[in-house]
Amino acid sequence: MSDVQRGFEDMSSIDTPATEPVAVGSEQTEDRRPVLLRLEEVARVHGQGTAVPVHALNGVSLEVRVGELVAVMGPSGSGKSTLLHVAGGLDKPTSGDVVVDGVSIGGLSVKSRAALRRRSVGYVFQDLNLVPALTAVENVMLPRELDGIGTRQARKEARAALSEVGVEDLADRFPEEMSGGQQQRVAIARALVGPRRLVLADEPTGALDSLTGEAIMRLLRARVDAGAAGLLVTHDSQHAAWADRVVLLRDGKVSDDAPFPGR
Ligand SMILES: Nc1ncnc2c1ncn2[C@@H]1O[C@H](COP(=O)(O)OP(=O)(O)OP(=O)(O)O)[C@@H](O)[C@H]1O
Ligand SMILES: [Mg+2]
Repeated sequence: MSDVQRGFEDMSSIDTPATEPVAVGSEQTEDRRPVLLRLEEVARVHGQGTAVPVHALNGVSLEVRVGELVAVMGPSGSGKSTLLHVAGGLDKPTSGDVVVDGVSIGGLSVKSRAALRRRSVGYVFQDLNLVPALTAVENVMLPRELDGIGTRQARKEARAALSEVGVEDLADRFPEEMSGGQQQRVAIARALVGPRRLVLADEPTGALDSLTGEAIMRLLRARVDAGAAGLLVTHDSQHAAWADRVVLLRDGKVSDDAPFPGR
C-alpha cells in the first residue's frame, strides 16, 4: 500500500457531516447546512485610479455551505485567483462584502483579518509559496505555531498532515530538495493542517501526475465531507467532477452556477 493510500485509510475515521439537505415536499429540497462562505456582489478593481484599471471581479455573489466543495472554472484571466484571494481575506473587495463563518471581512482590521485567515482558512496557492529556508514539516507547522499552539503539538499535527498527503518520509527535506509534485503535496498539507474549515485551493493538482492528482481530490473531498467547505479552481473537468457544484467565471462575472452534471 502506498503512503497516499495509507493516508486515505486514516481518513476513514472521519465523521460524515451532521446536517444533510432536508427534503421538503416531493421535489424541492431545502439546504439547511450552515453557509461558511458568502460573497455579496463582490467587485475587485486592480490598479484603481491608474490609466488602465482592471475589473477582475464584477459583482460576484456566491455561497458555499458546510459539506460543499465548489469548483471554479473559467478562462485564464477570468478572475478565478482574484476570487480565491478575496474569499480568503488575502485581498479586500473594492465593493461588496465577504462573510467567512459569520464574520464580515470588510469590517476587520488588517490584524483581525490575518487572525481570521490563520484560524479558519487553509489556502493552496497557484504558486506554492513554501518557505525555502524551512523543511517540509516546518512549513506545515508554521500556520499552527502562528495560531499559538506549542511546538510539540504543531509538529505532531504537521506530521499527520504530511502523512495524509503521502509525503511523511520527506518531512525533513527543504523545498529545493523535492520535486514539484512533492512540494505541491506539502503545500496541501499546510492548507489542511489543524481545524481550518474553509479550504481554498488554486489549481492544487497542477504539478501532479493524474493518480496523485486524483488522490489529492479524494483528500479535499474527505475534508469537506468531514465538516469543512471548499472552493477549488481547476481547469480539469475530471477533478471538477469531485465537486458538488461548478461556478463558471467569465470576465469577472459568474456566468453559470450549477450542480455538477449527474449530482
Ligand atoms: N495585482 C494585479 N494588478 C493588476 N491586475 C491584476 C492583478 N492581479 C490580477 N490582475 C488581472 O486581473 C484579471 C484576473 O486575474 P486572475 O489572476 O484572477 O485570473 P485567473 O482566472 O486566475 O487566470 P489564470 O487561469 O491564468 O490563473 C486579469 O486580467 C489579470 O491580469
Ligand atoms: Mg489564477
